[in-house]
Amino acid sequence: MTKARARAVAPPRGPKPDRHALYEVAVQGVDWDLDFLDRVFSYRNKGYEPLDFREDFCSTAALAVAWCQRGKDRRAWAVDLDPEPLAWARKYRLPYVREVAKQVTLIRGDVREARKPLVDVTCALNFSWWVFHQRADLVQYLRAARAGLRKNGVLVLNMFGGGKAEKPLVERTRKRAENGPDGTMLPAFTYIWEHESFNPIDRRLLAHIHFELRDGRTIKKAFTYDWRMYTVPELRDCVLEAGFRDFELWSEGYDAKAKRGNGVLYKRTKLDAEDTFIGYAVATR
Ligand SMILES: C[S@@+](CC[C@H](N)C(=O)[O-])C[C@H]1O[C@@H](n2cnc3c(N)ncnc32)[C@H](O)[C@@H]1O
Repeated sequence: MTKARARAVAPPRGPKPDRHALYEVAVQGVDWDLDFLDRVFSYRNKGYEPLDFREDFCSTAALAVAWCQRGKDRRAWAVDLDPEPLAWARKYRLPYVREVAKQVTLIRGDVREARKPLVDVTCALNFSWWVFHQRADLVQYLRAARAGLRKNGVLVLNMFGGGKAEKPLVERTRKRAENGPDGTMLPAFTYIWEHESFNPIDRRLLAHIHFELRDGRTIKKAFTYDWRMYTVPELRDCVLEAGFRDFELWSEGYDAKAKRGNGVLYKRTKLDAEDTFIGYAVATR
């Protein structure tokens, strides 16, 4: 068969998969994150289970919903400035979790505003708080997050760093086919994380997420981030200035034999300067 003939009979490929659904598969580790949030809260609160949760920078509210799926007494408030991912969550996530949807409140708003009710745990994950290029904005956010926590409540933020992260780079990761939150089958794809530029003077990082489907189609610049890549001591100083009692930095252990993370987070006072690390900062009200 000639190439032209093969093209003529190729099956229709259908619409490209949804970028938010691909993002969740590519980037989010919801159970891993929630296990850690439960653990750091319980440790500070005599073994009690946390019940009320605020997911800041929630986008499609994956964590808030999964939080509530862990127990009927649990409630979550998910906050994002952008109505588009919130509408997505209303359409593709909440209708598929039945009664659990009643435990979740989606809020369109700025995380720099303090919110009620007070909660046990608040998080700002996947580096979202790096959107604050001005230190004063970061401190304002941290003060608001603190004001929205009960005594002994915890705020968890994550970040990455290390010599190998502070430069232009492209990382490709293959992802298996999975179901989206509404049950739609998502095909296998490659997740591409690109640092277009990093400026050590102001630590501004311009980064993109691209997706590459197995049939050759791509979703270029599915997400773009213009971030300030804060360092650990910069964050620690801001956290303490905002009134939190303490600051800890946790990161995953390394399995040298398997040449990958060992799945366990450890509290750190020292890290290898050469390597890239993903750190989870924990602050207690
Ligand atoms: C990287 S996404 C976060 C996705 C998700 N939380 C995660 O863990 O993967 C960042 C989100 O932060 C939101 N955002 C940016 N600035 C904000 C602000 N000041 N207040 C509330 N949301 C904000 C954006 O609209 C976007 O949906």
